[in-house]
Amino acid sequence: MSADELRLSDWLFEASARLTRAGIDSPVIEAQLLASGVLGWSRSEVLTRGDQRVERALLDALLERRLAREPIAYLLGRREFFGLMFEVSPAVLIPRPETEFLVEAAVQWVRKDPSLARIVDVGTGSGCIAVSVAHRLPLPVVAIDVSAAALAVARRNAEALGVTIEFVEADGIAWLESALPTDLVVTNPPYVGFSDPLEPEIRDYEPSIALFAGVDGLDFYRRLARIEPRPPLLMEIGWGQDAAVAGLFESAGWRHIESWRDYAGIVRVLGFRP
Ligand SMILES: C[S@@+](CC[C@H](N)C(=O)[O-])C[C@H]1O[C@@H](n2cnc3c(N)ncnc32)[C@H](O)[C@@H]1O
Repeated sequence: MSADELRLSDWLFEASARLTRAGIDSPVIEAQLLASGVLGWSRSEVLTRGDQRVERALLDALLERRLAREPIAYLLGRREFFGLMFEVSPAVLIPRPETEFLVEAAVQWVRKDPSLARIVDVGTGSGCIAVSVAHRLPLPVVAIDVSAAALAVARRNAEALGVTIEFVEADGIAWLESALPTDLVVTNPPYVGFSDPLEPEIRDYEPSIALFAGVDGLDFYRRLARIEPRPPLLMEIGWGQDAAVAGLFESAGWRHIESWRDYAGIVRVLGFRP
């Protein structure tokens, strides 16, 4: 074995220990995922091929970036969402499991209301919501983002996952002036307040435009509550924002129709109609 080579199982042991000391959650799984990214193997191959000799340099380079708190999804360039694998880059928010509740809510609303003819995803980012609803529902989907770099990633995801979506680079709120009464608008907008505490993975690496919405995180909702015409609307909200967001929309004359909670009982999605 050359000096630069070691057994994969030894590297995994060292890497897990360093990730643990750095306070990173799930260090064993993260070490396996880093190895799978470098070696191009599945995680189960990494687990069963521990005796294999591997080059230390490439593995260590990725480990150092993770120790500097770069999110693992950016290091691997992918993240699973709603059972589909999405390309991600630092141009897009990393899809979160809680956003799957928004996709479920959209599927339920469309099944209950046959008059809905199109879905409009405002702030599409990686395209995870738009692509997932396009996979589940036979309706046209429009996906809007103000970031050209995010749209490039979303377009590649739609193509790779075999769905047709109309992508629009625009301010989503301004675009909604051309929304139709038969559109269902879905959005996971920026909803973090400027001084909210954030993990370094989020604060230092995810795009600010995807995160921040004013001092209290509610600026995007304030703009959305004032749009005309008013389509049916499903929105993801941040932890503890349900009363404030419902109040904003109700005082602007919207009807609060439904709330969806996650498995911890936290309200994640609100549904409104004009
Ligand atoms: C929280 S991220 C959500 C991304 C993706 N939909 C998801 O759920 O993972 C918000 C997205 O909204 C976009 N965005 C922010 N302000 C916008 C605006 N005024 N109009 C359209 N898109 C906007 C950002 O570029 C970002 O991609």
